[in-house]
Amino acid sequence: MKVTAFVGSARKKHTYNAAEKFLENLRKHGNVETEIVALSDYHLETCRGCMLCLNKGEEFCPLKDDRDKLIAKILESDGMVMASPNYSFQVSGLMKVFLDRLGFVFHRPRFYGKTFTSIVVQGIYGGKKISKYLSFIGGAMWFNVVKGSCLNTCEPIPEKVQEKNNMLLDRQSRKFYTVLVRKELPVPSFFELMMFRTARTNIKNQLDESWRDYVYYRDKGWFESDFYYTVRLSLLKKLAGRFFDWTAARRLRSNK
Ligand SMILES: Cc1cc2nc3c(=O)[nH]c(=O)nc-3n(C[C@H](O)[C@H](O)[C@H](O)COP(=O)(O)O)c2cc1C
Repeated sequence: MKVTAFVGSARKKHTYNAAEKFLENLRKHGNVETEIVALSDYHLETCRGCMLCLNKGEEFCPLKDDRDKLIAKILESDGMVMASPNYSFQVSGLMKVFLDRLGFVFHRPRFYGKTFTSIVVQGIYGGKKISKYLSFIGGAMWFNVVKGSCLNTCEPIPEKVQEKNNMLLDRQSRKFYTVLVRKELPVPSFFELMMFRTARTNIKNQLDESWRDYVYYRDKGWFESDFYYTVRLSLLKKLAGRFFDWTAARRLRSNK
């Protein structure tokens, strides 16, 4: 198994060290290969908002940067960690640029089955909301999300705070490892089922072959399948799935 941590701080200090500690813990739990990627070592350009990646396909993006190298690293990993410092009560600009470069993945999921978590490192306050935001991001890309941690690193770091940080990373790495080695893909919740069925119904009815989302969903067989991946749904969830298809189609008809 391989786990890659992406660090969104321009310096290799508290965020980088926390990511390293997390990966070190993971290696102790089992046979896990790890890699740490400092985003600042890569060339990432700011999204220009042309919408070409979303509408026509990611290969039409006019930016020439390291986006695809970083995506390849996610694809070759079984697990991903996003580690960011708290900057002005949000992820760092570097991390946000990275997230925007992955924007088309929210439309065309490809990371399902992989495990995700986040580490937020801060001076004093605001990191818990960022941690929630990153969990949401992981879920929106259909990763299996393990709750993130928020560490305090206001210098000088008191011994008790450092001990707490280590304890949080230890607990988080244990949970992450359990999810990472789980073989079967998770059964979607009703909410996740609704998200999939609504998205596919909208794409099927509103778009055509000139849109990349349509072609992507069609080629994956998602216009007919129960969910993004093969999974056994209970009778109740099968019925709920049909109901979500029906309500989405009805909403489209009534909007015409
Ligand atoms: C521009 C900037 C904005 C920051 N904003 C916050 C903040 O809103 N809340 C907070 O608790 N810490 C804030 N910090 C402190 C950092 O989160 C903290 O120093 C963190 O350890 C930096 O991570 P690093 O050591 O990996 O660079 C800020 C730091 C910088 C440089």
